[in-house]
Amino acid sequence: MTDPQLQPYFDFASTMQPEIDKALDRFTQLGDDCPSKLREAIRYSLLTPGKRLRPLLVLMAADVCGLPLMEALPAACAVEMVHCYSLVHDDLPAMDDDRLRRGRPTCHVAFGETLAILVGDALLAQAFHVLCQLERPAGCIARCCRELAFAAGPESLVGGQVDDLAGLPADGNLADLERIHRRKTGALIKVSTRVGAILGDADTATLAALDTYSQNLGLAFQITDDLLDIRGSSGVLGKTAGKDAAQGKVTYPTLLGETASRQRTEDLIAEARDALRPFGQQAAHLDALAQFILHRDR
Ligand code: IPE
Ligand code: IPE
Ligand code: MG
Ligand code: MG
Ligand code: MG
Repeated sequence: MTDPQLQPYFDFASTMQPEIDKALDRFTQLGDDCPSKLREAIRYSLLTPGKRLRPLLVLMAADVCGLPLMEALPAACAVEMVHCYSLVHDDLPAMDDDRLRRGRPTCHVAFGETLAILVGDALLAQAFHVLCQLERPAGCIARCCRELAFAAGPESLVGGQVDDLAGLPADGNLADLERIHRRKTGALIKVSTRVGAILGDADTATLAALDTYSQNLGLAFQITDDLLDIRGSSGVLGKTAGKDAAQGKVTYPTLLGETASRQRTEDLIAEARDALRPFGQQAAHLDALAQFILHRDR
């Protein structure tokens, strides 16, 4: 039985995940100048059963701001493409060296390392190509491009990945770890609600409330990921459990312990939900998505 509090998330996801998947399929029907192996590897990585949380966040934020959902679909796909590129590169031997992703061999295992690097490059570029297909005023699209580029860039996702791979020193503290999580994972989650809201012409107060929501959500999301790496099973996760410990990675649970880490995710989710209060029932899906983060097992 589904927890009734999560229902608005499942209702929204069951309608919109197929729309997201159809649009991702459409946006990767690439022409003959795209080598067939590259097309195959891009689609292999992208059209897999991911949770699609970031595109759902784009759509939910757009919905809260009164934009028809289908108008935000290219932006939702663009964010998923950036996310997918980051996973393909994150799994490479030079990075986390993972062999399983979304229940299948990772892109470099299936297609070789060279093509996996280029799949990431292609997805990152394609994301911006798709973002520019939004039927919104040019200024609005430019703002979305700028925000997504920042979130994917050296002061955000890429910078976070560099520091994550360097690892925290033995005396590294929680603030250092949070700074990594905020950039490697939080930035893309934050920009998801921002892009949705910008497309919906949100005012400053709405943007600020959604920022508070998604910043707390993003940190809670990565702490849960670290907890699942310890407690989850590879079969359910669709990726190799126990990798963080095997690689000696300093994570939330290693610094704080599992119980306190779990408590921290609950506090962060409570703060995220609190930020939605001004929106009332209009944000019931965002509220349920936040609770889903606490219950997720993959
Ligand atoms: C995994 O993200 C990478 C992290 C940022 C922790 P997800 O758990 O959202 O992966 P998919 O998209 O569902 O595969
Ligand atoms: C991934 O963090 C963050 C990005 C892909 C940017 P992890 O390395 O913990 O993600 P998983 O566990 O491999 O999905
Ligand atoms: Mg990693
Ligand atoms: Mg990884
Ligand atoms: Mg992980």
